[in-house]
Amino acid sequence: MTQPNPAGLEDVVAGTSEICFIDGKEGRLLYRGYDVRDLAEHASFEEVVYLLWHGRLPNRAELDAFVQQLRSLQALPGQVLDLIQHIPPATHPMAALRTAVSYLGTLDPDQEDQSQEANLRRATRLVAQFPTLVAAIQRVRQGKEPVAPRRDLSLAANFLYMLRGEEPSPLHADVMNVALVLHADHELNASTFAARVVAATLSDMYSAITAAIGALKGPLHGGANEQVMRTLLEIGSPDKAEAWVKEALAAKRRIMGFGHRVYKTEDPRATILRRLSRKVAEAAGDLRWFEISQAVEKVVTAEKGLYPNVDFYSASTYYVMGIPFELYTPIFAVSRISGWTAHVLEQYANNRLIRPRAEYTGPTRREWVPLEQR
Ligand code: CMC
Repeated sequence: MTQPNPAGLEDVVAGTSEICFIDGKEGRLLYRGYDVRDLAEHASFEEVVYLLWHGRLPNRAELDAFVQQLRSLQALPGQVLDLIQHIPPATHPMAALRTAVSYLGTLDPDQEDQSQEANLRRATRLVAQFPTLVAAIQRVRQGKEPVAPRRDLSLAANFLYMLRGEEPSPLHADVMNVALVLHADHELNASTFAARVVAATLSDMYSAITAAIGALKGPLHGGANEQVMRTLLEIGSPDKAEAWVKEALAAKRRIMGFGHRVYKTEDPRATILRRLSRKVAEAAGDLRWFEISQAVEKVVTAEKGLYPNVDFYSASTYYVMGIPFELYTPIFAVSRISGWTAHVLEQYANNRLIRPRAEYTGPTRREWVPLEQR
């Protein structure tokens, strides 16, 4: 690590955690010691959630029981479905998700129970309900009826099913599963840190998760994937990418989906997502968005030495899968709820209030001036 910088807490170690390790120089990411590349190749998202919470992979019986438990908790309370119907359709789905999660907190069957068992139950309900919530929010925005969850589909496949009203192809279900695995956790990113700060006051899990959703929404964090797609649409064809990027950089604009606070080389998640983006594009016979992405990458890397992050190739991947771009950040949340809750549980298990200091740069002592003399 370089010298810590108070601006943006760069390289400041703000706590200990056993959940996630990032090597920003080598471009490695581990969840509980497992390389994310291995998890993306072999694991279901449900297995990864279990791993993040319990610190080890489940055996067959444990995984089966966990999957059944999640499936039994997917349905939303009727009050939340009613609330979703009352959210103005122009509301961004991340704002709707934040509001709905806050409301879920008021309906929590464990209300004031702050035991670790009750918090694990809350975490399980949240992971199970997030796909249903996001799909229902989108369906209602489109003037359609929400689709009830099914108990025979994986979390990834069920999410796409509830969104579209029809079962996804094995390829799309698989790609969504890998995307969820890749977004599940990332150490003290802004939203996870926000969740831990709230949990460290011993406030409830819903307050912590609501804060995390608010942080994820911003375009410098999870909101970048939606902005990437807007950029690709604005560029429109691969031959226009170079001029577009050069003009944007000359105007000191940020190119969304590039750069990272921790990775100084390629984000390992971007390597996998680049492959997925090509795969879904080839299967759909529509390489346009993949090719624009590649053209943008070539220029940004040459001009700025910046690499794509997790948000860059996820945009073209989801777009070719027919997913509207306002849902890209909510999909991030459908996955990251696993990491947020793992961190909140870890924070509660060994808590100390998070309360840093600021270096004061304001004026030094001033004399009081009565109102009439100012
Ligand atoms: N486009 C153009 N220039 C950039 C970019 C970019 N995407 N990212 C960094 N830079 C430049 C920046 O202008 C600055 O240049 P200079 O020193 O000449 O002023 C230099 O690189 C350092 O930037 P910084 O903002 O101090 O670096 P940071 O560590 O605070 O920023 C970042 C990290 C992710 C906020 C930033 O790279 C960025 O804004 N990227 C675009 C938004 C984005 O893709 N966010 C997703 C992040 S990864 C996944 C997630 O969290 O969701």
